[in-house]
Amino acid sequence: MKINVHYSIQHLDDLYFTGKTSVVIDVLRATTVIVAALKNGAREIIPVSTVDFAMKVSGNAFGGQTILGGERNTKKVEGFNLGNSPLEYTPDIVSGKSIILYTTNGSKAIVKAKFSENLFICCFHNLPAIANQLITLDKDVEIICAGTNGNFNLEDAICAGRLLSEIGKINENIETSDCGKASLVLNKSFGKNIAKMLKETEHGKLLIENGFAPDIKECAQYGITDLIPYFISGSIRKTETEVAQNNTNELIAS
Ligand code: MLT
Repeated sequence: MKINVHYSIQHLDDLYFTGKTSVVIDVLRATTVIVAALKNGAREIIPVSTVDFAMKVSGNAFGGQTILGGERNTKKVEGFNLGNSPLEYTPDIVSGKSIILYTTNGSKAIVKAKFSENLFICCFHNLPAIANQLITLDKDVEIICAGTNGNFNLEDAICAGRLLSEIGKINENIETSDCGKASLVLNKSFGKNIAKMLKETEHGKLLIENGFAPDIKECAQYGITDLIPYFISGSIRKTETEVAQNNTNELIAS
């Protein structure tokens, strides 16, 4: 199993991902928001790469069941309903809704990888579930760290390292790129206390400065859900198995 890690994808053409199995990571905070929103009952997340497109898509589409969410410079975009804090995406607000998400790096990375055959969304919340999913699929993987404005960031690199390390515990035949090897080392050095690590990153410090300190604690939670967000036909939903599992639970409960 070959696992490539990318610290930036600006230099890659969208077609690079065609037919590949990809995972997008943006720990602070886009992929954590996506996992939180789906966990809290959102119908789907539609990632977009410009604010204009977000406005255009929202309109009257989806029977008025849309929410515009995301950030610019960490803050809610003017005219949007929600910002990019996972704590805003509560069940009473997002349940049954289609969320159009624009963020500086995360939503753009997802759009960039849209031609992947399989495209998963990962953060610390669902990392063990994503690791299991990739082990089961047993295909080569492209891990995309959304980074910051085309540059490396520590939190996404460490999350990628943790994902590699979890997969490596079960599958010993992993081959990885130089960025993958660096991620493994970074995870070993800085990944033990996730909250502390996040607090000390550049973006973590910026979030704290801008009043989002509680988000750090939230984004640091590890393995709290088995949810596997999957991008298909322009939107991110829970995987079939997750939906099937929920339906089964409902049937049992009724
Ligand atoms: C991004 O996409 O850059 C982020 O998620 C930024 C943030 O939430 O502050």
